Amino acid sequence: MSSESHDIRLTVNGETVVETVEPRMTLVDFLRETLALTGSHVGCEHGVCGACTVRVDGVIVRGCLMLAAQCDGATVETIEGLSDAGELADLQDAFEKRNALQCGFCTPGMLLTAQELLARGDVPSRDTIRAHISGNYCRCTGYHAIVDAIESVARSRAGTG
Ligand code: FES
Ligand code: FES
Repeated sequence: MSSESHDIRLTVNGETVVETVEPRMTLVDFLRETLALTGSHVGCEHGVCGACTVRVDGVIVRGCLMLAAQCDGATVETIEGLSDAGELADLQDAFEKRNALQCGFCTPGMLLTAQELLARGDVPSRDTIRAHISGNYCRCTGYHAIVDAIESVARSRAGTG
């Protein structure tokens, strides 16, 4: 480790983590390489594709644009933690039933982004859903099935579908 390394202490998926990180290590690399949480993916590494989406202090962020050192004291949630907690279970079921994933590369980030929208508690229009996930790229599905899945969960959570 270089002399500029930082000691960080954070909560990841409910567990306290204390590690020493290089100053330039991104959050997503830290999660994947140091903590072996490989559900968050690395695509563009430039903040464009959304594959690296994770939640920090309750807000979704691009894990490739945030440094691990910036997360000292933060609460980080990844697809692994949210899946284990069951928070995304209905969304994951809907994605599977409606064929909203093929290769699955975009899926963890897509689920976190969809969950952020659904947390508002209303039933968003399809245009709103499309706009909300517009920062998450999917090379496989053409998005239609993803919008279907998110819309169906919004309706069922609202008790209207
Ligand atoms: S890998 Fe982070 S936005 Fe593409
Ligand atoms: S399912 Fe392959 S990139 Fe979305």
